[in-house]
Amino acid sequence: MNRKNVLVFGELPDDQLARLTAVHEVTVAHPRDPVGRAAFDATLPTAQGLIGSSYPIDQGVIDAATRLEVVSSVSVGVDNYALKALHARGITLCHTPGVLDETVADTVFALMLAASRRVVELANLVRDGRWTQGIGDDLFGFDVHGKTLGLLGFGRIGQAIARRAALGFGMPVLYHARHAVDLSTQAPELAGRAAHTPLDELLGRSDFVVAMLPLTEHTRGMIDQRVFGLMKPGAVFVNGGRGPTVREDALLAALDQGTLRAAGLDVFAKEPLPADSPLRTHPRVTPLPHVGSATHETRHAMAELATTNLLQALAGERPTAVYDTATA
Ligand code: DGY
Repeated sequence: MNRKNVLVFGELPDDQLARLTAVHEVTVAHPRDPVGRAAFDATLPTAQGLIGSSYPIDQGVIDAATRLEVVSSVSVGVDNYALKALHARGITLCHTPGVLDETVADTVFALMLAASRRVVELANLVRDGRWTQGIGDDLFGFDVHGKTLGLLGFGRIGQAIARRAALGFGMPVLYHARHAVDLSTQAPELAGRAAHTPLDELLGRSDFVVAMLPLTEHTRGMIDQRVFGLMKPGAVFVNGGRGPTVREDALLAALDQGTLRAAGLDVFAKEPLPADSPLRTHPRVTPLPHVGSATHETRHAMAELATTNLLQALAGERPTAVYDTATA
């Protein structure tokens, strides 16, 4: 078989690297560190396949990669990729849908519970030796079960969150998406338990508003002052999608003005979160370092699918999970 040049930008487990090196010439270069960046730049012009995540594959990278045939992302989100440039060059883009849905839904539920029941704040109280008597109602949380969940975005992950909420926590679910989902055929367990709802109505009725939006030109900055202003007073906001879909100044204002009771955030406008961001230390924010899919099992499954996608594409086969860049 014709060995091709593969550039791995980021971490790939040893067993997946072994699958690649068995059939291709592989260079591993971490472009985020200066030494890796030089190796990445030097290898780009000969690379036929790229695999990795969490690094912008922009127009400049694509222009430098003159022999590039396929980019395989170890992520489901594709906002790090210059989609139009890939499409214009006929370069295949692969991603990892499906294998992370349940894990990301677990993370979102952890944030809903942590934010509403003040889990981190109360754990810190114990750790700091401040548990000297029974806590008073100033430190009580609010129930999650039975409350109304409003989902912004109702793809595979949104539906996994809805199943937890409706079936496990007895929560009525409202969702806002471009199209209503035919639950009777696509998610029968949610039929009668989740309702397609206009955005403004959803915001006014939901105790928990969870954003699971991809980042596109339509969703960037979509969750703004108007949206926070329409939320039910005392709502909890959770973002498990992409940070730039939220105007963080508006989020902070909604927290400080008391519209929002709390927020659980796995994603931010700028990642890693800058040291001076007020969201880092805000007492009513539970921040996580973008770990929605970060379990051993799921990150391995993502790497495995991304490796399979790359091997298939370089062999001239249709990859298991292709992203349609024509829709960009
Ligand atoms: C994804 O796969 O898009 C997750 O957000 C991890 O980056």
